[in-house]
Amino acid sequence: MAKRSSPARKQTGRKAKAPTRKASRAGASTALALSRGEKAVSRGLPPWPVVDDAVVRAVTKVLKTQPLNAVTGGIQERFEKQFSKYHGRRYAVMTNGGTSALQLALAACGIRAGDEVITTPYSWGASTGCILLRNAIPVFADIDTETLCLDPSKIEERITGRTKAILVVHIYGMPADMPAIQKVARQHELAVIEDCSQAAGAKCRGKLVGAWSDAGAFSLQASKNLVAGEGGIVVLNSRDAYERALLAGVHPVRMKAEIRNHELQRYIDSLGPNFRPHPLAAAMASSQLGRLAGWVREKNRSFAHLFRRVGHILEPHGAEYIRQHKGTVHGYHMASLKVVHPELREIPRRLIARALAAEGMPVGGYVGTPIPLRTRFADLRFHGRGCPWTCRHAKRLPDYAAGRWPVVEEICREGEIILHGNHYVYDTKLMDQYAAAIEKLVANLGDLRTRAERADR
Ligand SMILES: Cc1ncc(COP(=O)(O)O)c(C=O)c1O
Repeated sequence: MAKRSSPARKQTGRKAKAPTRKASRAGASTALALSRGEKAVSRGLPPWPVVDDAVVRAVTKVLKTQPLNAVTGGIQERFEKQFSKYHGRRYAVMTNGGTSALQLALAACGIRAGDEVITTPYSWGASTGCILLRNAIPVFADIDTETLCLDPSKIEERITGRTKAILVVHIYGMPADMPAIQKVARQHELAVIEDCSQAAGAKCRGKLVGAWSDAGAFSLQASKNLVAGEGGIVVLNSRDAYERALLAGVHPVRMKAEIRNHELQRYIDSLGPNFRPHPLAAAMASSQLGRLAGWVREKNRSFAHLFRRVGHILEPHGAEYIRQHKGTVHGYHMASLKVVHPELREIPRRLIARALAAEGMPVGGYVGTPIPLRTRFADLRFHGRGCPWTCRHAKRLPDYAAGRWPVVEEICREGEIILHGNHYVYDTKLMDQYAAAIEKLVANLGDLRTRAERADR
């Protein structure tokens, strides 16, 4: 990962400008919305997901012309082909959600009961839940402060003789450092799985996320970068992995049609879960895929505009990563903001988030409690009766005690400042209003300090 540079230089490589006198004056004369001042943000976000005539036509066509219970072929197969080709992979399996796509990814990589999978403590729960659902054991490594994804330098110390895979999450759409993670995986002969649920369209060194690993799983849920309403998809490059994924969740008719491996053929039946997607979901996602790259481009333009204005105050995790590794494209499912302004650092992050939200920015938290510090891990309660940790194949119980993931624990303790919402339309007026909200925050540090002191008492 890139070396840290001074915060003021991070965005552009040049010294960042201080707020203009005009902006400072305007901020100073305006009270925070928290203190009954006028809100800085009056503009709203454009509606998401996009449901325009093209989507309605695509969905209606499928509704009128195709069976709604197709188990092979049809729009689902077309979308799988489209999506795998888009990622330069040979295979894809669409599912009814990102959670089920992750389960197919683990099955594809041959993860079995008692196997250890190293993953991030900073994510949506499903990226760990999919490990537990396979009766495997999650082991957590800390995250990188710049990307908020798994820190490649923290993985090795967590590897044991039971480790089988590394499960990476490109959180908020920011790609993890995949070349460094791949290097560790190769050295220890581990599979790599990518959870790209928040990162469709993001790129690491010019290559789309999902195409870096043995299995790349995506959620197509309504808030994500590519939408089916509810849905998911996994991309794969090896025939073996593809057939194992099929065995883990498609209809037996499709298994019979596609599984060639004689060993796997013996297990074709209807005992497995039904992870099949709705064809209308496939129609929606398929009709939008051609627009994904454009939406991601516009999000990057929008945030570049915002960070040009306020990069010296709040900045995105990963800005340095983008600068250092040419070709990295943030997917901006959300934007994670880090406080670097020296004076702002004195103010609790929770209060900053509250103040920005009051100004009208869609700011809030996300992860809340690091995954290993949640009650299920303290109580070893998932399947019941201590399973999977008490399974005879699980040879040891990882340490899930607080203090082992200082970066994540600090972020969650101090409060997250996450900008939610899909900024897929390049709207400089909206970004200028966000910038005004942030400038106003800096101009009202006294007010915030008093509030913080009062809360302390
Ligand atoms: C990182 C991550 N992984 C997995 C999922 C699960 O996806 P789904 O809700 O489609 O099952 C999500 C959904 O929010 C996610 O953000």
